[in-house]
Amino acid sequence: MKKVLIIFGTRPEAIKMAPIINEFKKHPNKITLKVCITAQHREMLDQVLNFFQIIPDYDLDIMQTGQNLYSLTSKIIQSLKPILENFGPDYVFVHGDTTTTMASSIASFYSGSKVCHVEAGLRTLNKLSPFPEEINRQITSRICDYHFAPTESSKINLLNENILPENILVTGNTVIDALFESVKRVKSYNSEKIDKIVSLTKNSKEIILVTGHRRENHGDGFIKICNALKEIAIELPESSIVYPVHLNPKVLKPVNEILGNIKNIHLLSPLSYPDFIWLMNKSKLIITDSGGVQEEAPSLGKPVLVMRETTERPEAVEAGTVILVGTKKDLIVSEALDLLSNKKRYNKMSKLHNPYGDGKASIKITNFLNKL
Ligand code: UD1
Ligand code: UDP
Repeated sequence: MKKVLIIFGTRPEAIKMAPIINEFKKHPNKITLKVCITAQHREMLDQVLNFFQIIPDYDLDIMQTGQNLYSLTSKIIQSLKPILENFGPDYVFVHGDTTTTMASSIASFYSGSKVCHVEAGLRTLNKLSPFPEEINRQITSRICDYHFAPTESSKINLLNENILPENILVTGNTVIDALFESVKRVKSYNSEKIDKIVSLTKNSKEIILVTGHRRENHGDGFIKICNALKEIAIELPESSIVYPVHLNPKVLKPVNEILGNIKNIHLLSPLSYPDFIWLMNKSKLIITDSGGVQEEAPSLGKPVLVMRETTERPEAVEAGTVILVGTKKDLIVSEALDLLSNKKRYNKMSKLHNPYGDGKASIKITNFLNKL
């Protein structure tokens, strides 16, 4: 029997770890599994836990409004100590690039557990972008024993850092596992939120879906993003922009101030994962700075404008499924208007192959663990 602890704390980590939890649970004779949430996010995390029916064994419940990186990091490390010491996992699984990921890796290393990193090897090599995620990833890779890379290019990044090839497995991204499974479940799905969106957009020619939260875009970047969205809304009065706004106060404030009173911009609270998948499906174009959304959207045939200056997901740019527009107001506006009016370009982009996997990443990870 292997004692395994899965630790995560934010919305995207939960979505991307859910398929692994489900897969590990199919092997009760080989894996004793416990799940620990730091609750770096609260409401946005609980929405995902509800949908995937994950009941955590440990909940550190650390989120505070407007939290900062110093206290977040130290609280996670401190609070994990008793859990790691009492349960004594052989393997700890962390995901991606958040402060939960980095701090949990450090704590797990201190406890003597082997640390396994899901979605390993993404790099921009620019320590300020994305901030602090690029450094979180690099620290996590340094600590981890096993690395589950979503693509060949993320594996190459790890090899370039002298990580041994036998400790790396290319799996695809578990976000596709979650998406495929959830798309099946939401086929005949409905909710009050969906009814509300249908009613808000019933006279619209098309929906443009927006999300955004990156720390490096806080301040000036978000003001430019909001001004671009305002201009798109004015240029396309028959279209609706639907924007479920991230709960970070540094995002909520400028978005509500600049976009709060525009007729065809609908600001919503964060959507549950099934509601969000439904909305992605209904949308014509997605404008986002999210990592997960740019990985999911090509599987639904939706072109994405990515509001980032750098990318750790070059596969999507090479495949042509996303276009990097940064936070440059004029570029966001011109690319959005062009894609929505140029059918040939739109159709080409919406039919491209998703480079992030076949939905079997969590099975590959489970087989790897079982063989260790
Ligand atoms: C975090 C991650 C980022 C990830 C993103 C996914 C870090 C440093 N950042 O950014 O890598 O891409 O999550 O969304 O790890 N809040 C709530 N309720 C919630 C969630 C957040 O009120 O359910 C508010 C709180 O005021 C909180 C603030 O948002 O203090 C910021 O949350 P935090 O996790 O520190 O940063 P994010 O911007 O969410
Ligand atoms: N998502 C969601 N509800 C929303 C917005 C996004 O469930 O209102 C999902 C989305 O499908 C994706 C993930 O959240 O899987 C992305 O999370 P986020 O953008 O917060 O973080 P990132 O991926 O940038 O780290």
